Amino acid sequence: MTNNDNAPFSFRLIATDGMARRGEIRTPHGTVRTPAFMPVGTQATVKAMYPDQVRELGSDVVLGNTYHLMLRPTAERVARLGGLHKFMNWPHTILTDSGGFQVMSLAQLRKLSEKGVTFQSHVDGQKIEMTPERSIEIQQLLGSDIQMQLDECIALPAPREEAERAMRLSLRWAERSRVQFEAMGGPGRGQALYGIVQGGTDPELRLESAGMLSQMPFEGYSVGGLAVGEPQEVMLKTLEITTPAMPADKPRYLMGVGTPEDILESVARGIDQFDCVLPTRAGRHGLAYTRYGKVNLKNARHADDPRPLDETSPCEASNRYSRAYLHHLVKAGEGLAAMLLTWNNLAYYQQLMQGIRDAIEAQTFEEFRARTRADWAKGDI
Ligand code: GUN
Repeated sequence: MTNNDNAPFSFRLIATDGMARRGEIRTPHGTVRTPAFMPVGTQATVKAMYPDQVRELGSDVVLGNTYHLMLRPTAERVARLGGLHKFMNWPHTILTDSGGFQVMSLAQLRKLSEKGVTFQSHVDGQKIEMTPERSIEIQQLLGSDIQMQLDECIALPAPREEAERAMRLSLRWAERSRVQFEAMGGPGRGQALYGIVQGGTDPELRLESAGMLSQMPFEGYSVGGLAVGEPQEVMLKTLEITTPAMPADKPRYLMGVGTPEDILESVARGIDQFDCVLPTRAGRHGLAYTRYGKVNLKNARHADDPRPLDETSPCEASNRYSRAYLHHLVKAGEGLAAMLLTWNNLAYYQQLMQGIRDAIEAQTFEEFRARTRADWAKGDI
């Protein structure tokens, strides 16, 4: 459902259960039920899926990438063609990442300065400059509903001085991003800009980053710089420290996370939004997620197995195709393998999110968490 154009961005909490929160974000392009999983549509497509299918599985929002779209087909071209919603035929909410993370992980010959980051395009080698202001300009050209500040995300483990330097730079970039977002009229169009908490795994740095950002008028707050090489328990400990220092009346988004277990455990620590390439990327590599954990369809043990991935799932990809057939498609490198497994995986992820939301509303999140973990522990047999 599309809300009124220019209706202001809003967030309301519907229920809480422990630290877990059930809420609702409203944007000019619809209502996002939280906790939400946002499928990644990097290049204006959730790979191997039709937009209608993504929607039918229960996605209220997809993620697009400033970095990829500015290089190809360019943000200016998307704007001329009516904006990203129209370009990709996704009339619902779109969140865009600022490019900071992608420049760090994909671009070559990077040079970082106070002003921003220059790099060489991975598409055609051309030299590009990305500043906090330019990132907002691009996100405005794309017309996304929820925009991110430019930040610096470092790999972990990292020395404290390095985490501190990147965190402080990200804070200064947060202010510049906010100024540009307001100058371009983002709030008047009902759009949102989120600040990004950085600080590595150092509790003091995380608290300082969250505290400083909380004093700036962002519509939401992200936790960045996690799931970048640290053990899961370190990530969860960092969240336990960070989320209580973030405004309770604003959405909290954990960037780039994660596995079903990461998501369940992060909801238990107060996170409302997630994105990750895992269900889509794993689907293209022969890996299925089900309520009993991961199933590697490349494995020869599936070659004669007539059972579907999960006969109790309402998703056709999960209940109508035999493991033997899926194994065959994966081994033969067929496009349908990627389509069916991505479909199954996104269906599983969205069923998990629906289960989480229902449980928080029913005040049974702890039971749901224990039951879900017990199912994963059984494994796929
Ligand atoms: N995606 C995953 N982690 C990050 C991060 O720290 N910053 C940004 N901008 N995007 C991310």
